[in-house]
Amino acid sequence: MSIYLDNGATSFPKAPGVGEAMLDYVNNVGANVNRSTYETASTAAMILLDTREQLCRLFNFDDPTHVIFTPGMTAGLNMLLKGFLKSGDHVIVSSMEHNAMMRPLVQLEAEGVEFSRIPADSDGITRAEDVLPLIRPNTKLVAVMHASNVCGSLLPIKEIGAICRKMNLPLILDAAQTAGHYPIDFNELGLSALCAPAHKGLLGPQGLGVMLIEKEFAKSVQPLIAGGTGSASDSEELPPYMPDRFESGTMNIPGIYGLNAALNYILETGVDSLRLHEERLTRRFLDGLKGIPVRIAGTDDISKRVGVVAVDFLFHDNAEAAFKLEQAGILTRCGLHCAPSAHKTLGTFPQGVVRFSLGYASTETDVDGAIAAIRSIARQD
Ligand code: ALA
Repeated sequence: MSIYLDNGATSFPKAPGVGEAMLDYVNNVGANVNRSTYETASTAAMILLDTREQLCRLFNFDDPTHVIFTPGMTAGLNMLLKGFLKSGDHVIVSSMEHNAMMRPLVQLEAEGVEFSRIPADSDGITRAEDVLPLIRPNTKLVAVMHASNVCGSLLPIKEIGAICRKMNLPLILDAAQTAGHYPIDFNELGLSALCAPAHKGLLGPQGLGVMLIEKEFAKSVQPLIAGGTGSASDSEELPPYMPDRFESGTMNIPGIYGLNAALNYILETGVDSLRLHEERLTRRFLDGLKGIPVRIAGTDDISKRVGVVAVDFLFHDNAEAAFKLEQAGILTRCGLHCAPSAHKTLGTFPQGVVRFSLGYASTETDVDGAIAAIRSIARQD
């Protein structure tokens, strides 16, 4: 039996009921939404609406018409960055960003968009006050991740949000490693938009993301994708209303059924309780690694991190260590995790790390098993 510690890449197992809900849609419902009016089409449409409402409850967001389903979180960030930024604009990101943020920005750089990175220390800790000196007259946006997918450090998003409000800058949050793991209050943080994948902490399927977008900000984002919406079919122009403006083409309806079941589980369990479970296991993991010849890249302060633990083996190649772990049944992700800037910040570039990422179904036995395997691999031969 293997121990799955790769929830940062994708959660496994999925929440109870996800597979059944997807099968129910494919086998018993099958209809498209917004196109036809028969009963199964209405049933599916109601599940979509219910899922938007669940997401509003989860993130304390008040308008389900501004909850957009996307083909993934990467697509959501591309839609926002490319739909909002123009040549001559400057954007502030962190030095911990994933390529879901950086690659669209590097593409935009070729079109005259500039970006600056908020520095972080070698534990991946970012200070909100370091945003201020980066602000220029042409700064139009702050776009940051909530927690590092490499070392788990949380960005001080509340404080960054306060600076953005004061400076009248929109703030986009990449919640890939926090949605479903850590409480997020859209209104309190003063976000302009939030993107999250369905398949990580939201415990749903792959190939689906969600994008919550504040009303005024939504008006300033040009839709990247245009096509049929099933609405305003007398016109060849995109409808101006939400969510249709950002939802062209048939959506991943089986995926949304799965996400709906996953969100039922998350809302019933409560994110606070999921966070507590993850905090306890992360503490146990970090304490268990003490005395073993590895470097933990990332903070030891549980209040400033999520359950993503980056381990750099001092006496072994990290890829080799990950292979030995796999042979021992411990499933991890090694390498650079699509985040070269984060690894440069942490001092783990180019060797990378072995990343262990916890999930709602991880147990103390899983953590103890991983620690025992790390101990036996890590010593000098
Ligand atoms: N972004 C995902 C990860 O960190 C896939 O593994």
